[in-house]
Amino acid sequence: MKRDERTPAGLVGASPHAAAFTITFDGRELPVLPGQSIAAALWAAGILAWRSTRVGGRPRGAFCGIGQCYDCLATVNGRPNRRACLVTARPGDAVTTQEGHGHAGLDT
Ligand code: FES
Repeated sequence: MKRDERTPAGLVGASPHAAAFTITFDGRELPVLPGQSIAAALWAAGILAWRSTRVGGRPRGAFCGIGQCYDCLATVNGRPNRRACLVTARPGDAVTTQEGHGHAGLDT
């Protein structure tokens, strides 16, 4: 990797001029720009909460935006507990609201 590619945009392959693609959130199709995190894509679509707490079922979304608070946990392609602020969206990703600890629907 060249030195000038070691920028946040370079590291995630962001390009404001590249073609947008789509992901889904609870079945709703959302546009995404290359390099956007899942949290950024949800925010851009006006979605501020995509998880509910284990106790009380209160809504949560991104809080710190840097991978420290774990408020932004989401289920991505069937895998729970992904920090949406750190996961770069990929074409066709299926993001779903995470309930509680995220393991209720797993066979484990
Ligand atoms: S918003 Fe805090 S870990 Fe993602």
